[in-house]
Amino acid sequence: MSRIFINYRRQDSEGYVGRLYDHLTKHFERADIFMDIDNIKPGADFVETLESAVASCDVMITMIGPQWLTITNDAGSRRLDQWDDFVRIEIASALKQSKLIIPVLVGHARMPSPTELPEDMIALARRNALELSHQRFSYDVDKLIQVIKDTVSGSASLKITSPTTKINADSEVVRQKELAIKVVRIVREKELALKAVRDDLMNATTSPLYEFRTQIRAFPVLGEGNADANIIFIGEAPGKNETETGRPFIGPSGEVLDEMLRSIDLKREDVYVTNILMDRAPEKRDPTPAEIAFYAPFLDRIIDIIQPTVIATLGRFSMQYILKKLDLPEKRGSITQNHGKLIKTQAHYGEVHIVPLFHPAVVLYSASQKETLRKDFEKLKVFI
Ligand code: URA
Repeated sequence: MSRIFINYRRQDSEGYVGRLYDHLTKHFERADIFMDIDNIKPGADFVETLESAVASCDVMITMIGPQWLTITNDAGSRRLDQWDDFVRIEIASALKQSKLIIPVLVGHARMPSPTELPEDMIALARRNALELSHQRFSYDVDKLIQVIKDTVSGSASLKITSPTTKINADSEVVRQKELAIKVVRIVREKELALKAVRDDLMNATTSPLYEFRTQIRAFPVLGEGNADANIIFIGEAPGKNETETGRPFIGPSGEVLDEMLRSIDLKREDVYVTNILMDRAPEKRDPTPAEIAFYAPFLDRIIDIIQPTVIATLGRFSMQYILKKLDLPEKRGSITQNHGKLIKTQAHYGEVHIVPLFHPAVVLYSASQKETLRKDFEKLKVFI
């Protein structure tokens, strides 16, 4: 019986589907994975076939590529709007039957909004999506497989491939599995290590900003994001919005940062965002050397845990700190001289690129700086 249903458009996501199928077959029985192309018999009523296949599945993976919404038929009409569109029939049927649907975004596609979908597919827009990128394929697929396994763990009919039989059959499968397990373990360890830093920061009563923190009943702000991120952004200091919530860059500067990330198709949850100071300073003043010296060890611990391949500094304070820490010749340059450079160097854990960027707040004071900031952010594209 088919239990995992892969819903996709060949023109839109074929390159990814083949790779995904190969990975899935290492964890699940081939017979439990339904892909329309192979399974529909000639002459069969395709609507009935699709609906009964959906009925028998536990999980539907809906692959959404960059053209998913817009592909047209020969008459120039959007395929999603056609009654006989396979993709639409399958999704609408899964929604009607309350099946678990996992949208999987590929090729930098985004989730469709409700207004872009036909009536019987609108509920798809509320489903939480996972992203698959070619660069992090094994890692991303591992996350997807874990979700499927968690979902079907109570289901008797979806057989998860036994590792012992596979070990004998296919050493590549074993290697992939071990790698996936290792990645999950590393991420968990990193998350725990970051939590320990957060606890220490909460208890940092000797901070020069601790008194102000208690006076205004604020939270310290360690940082937020992917504990295993490739790219870490380091700002200056949390402001009022941030210390009321404990989250970095959520005020006006955060909006600029989000816009810049969007401009290069980088998701906030894929990076880690932190600051050189982790408490709010009074009166929006610049960080003092004593404050930077106090919080620097917390920042160093974050970097050591995450081990990013890119450190993007936002503003002159974090830039100066990082360039001096790594003793780079650019430490003598101003942010006007250094912004947008890719500075390759060696951290104790491996190669790292420092990318000094202007602080997003520059755009709030001078709109003309937006283009400069956007162009500088473009430099990060090679690391995505
Ligand atoms: N919010 C932050 O978290 N950091 C800044 O530098 C500015 C706003």
